[in-house]
Amino acid sequence: MGSHDFKREYIEHVARFKAHYPLAEAMSYAVGGDFKRVGGIERSLLFQEGLRDGHYLIDVGCGSGRLAYALKDHFHGKYLGIDVVPDFVDYARSIAGSETFRFEIAEGLSIPESGESADYVCFFSVFTHLRHEESYVYFREAKRVLRPGGRIVFSFLDITEESHWQIFEGNVADIGKDVHLNQFLSEDMISVWIQKLELRLLKMEKASHPFIAVQTPFTDDNGNLVTGNVSLGQSVCIVEK
Ligand SMILES: C[S@@+](CC[C@H](N)C(=O)[O-])C[C@H]1O[C@@H](n2cnc3c(N)ncnc32)[C@H](O)[C@@H]1O
Repeated sequence: MGSHDFKREYIEHVARFKAHYPLAEAMSYAVGGDFKRVGGIERSLLFQEGLRDGHYLIDVGCGSGRLAYALKDHFHGKYLGIDVVPDFVDYARSIAGSETFRFEIAEGLSIPESGESADYVCFFSVFTHLRHEESYVYFREAKRVLRPGGRIVFSFLDITEESHWQIFEGNVADIGKDVHLNQFLSEDMISVWIQKLELRLLKMEKASHPFIAVQTPFTDDNGNLVTGNVSLGQSVCIVEK
């Protein structure tokens, strides 16, 4: 299957940022930047799609804690963030860790939790860095750890989305270079996974559609108020067990 190694690729990606920026900036840039804005939008999306106090949320590929940081004063439930990059896990724990918000280093394709224990499993911009087969394995894991009626929320680079085409062109320019994968997905691929795993599709939203209502307005990284209806920048899919 070639030399793709998500762990090494992402650890090297983070090391490059750490070498050039102060820690907080490096930890934001290495997950794509806009730390407060994206975290706040991810939080709004989860609340809109039914996450409630008392629930158990597992955040796979939690990165440096963008979502956890946005949730910590708003979500009174259990949270587990896992990631393959130890620097991310340490940092996320330092800014959002608590008795109910745990962070663990992950092996990469399994979720360290027992079956039927979680209400929500989210993957924000994680399938973006995995081969389709690897994402499918994670999807299966998410199904295992979810309670019946629990939900998977994930974002993805969408081959049919015009605003993502420049990323595809970037991949073309990067052919032959040792950079981390920017993997594209499409609705038909996801539909097959859902069917094979006997899950139920609840929602599929294009990146260009501002379908996320910001219930609690918040300030972004530039001091601007984020309010109204927004989009995450990637397409979003919501699936029920
Ligand atoms: C673009 S970042 C997004 C981070 C976070 N979800 C967010 O929205 O801020 C992608 C994340 O996926 C993580 N990742 C990549 N491969 C992974 C894997 N196999 N298992 C868990 N995390 C992985 C990376 O380390 C990185 O933290």
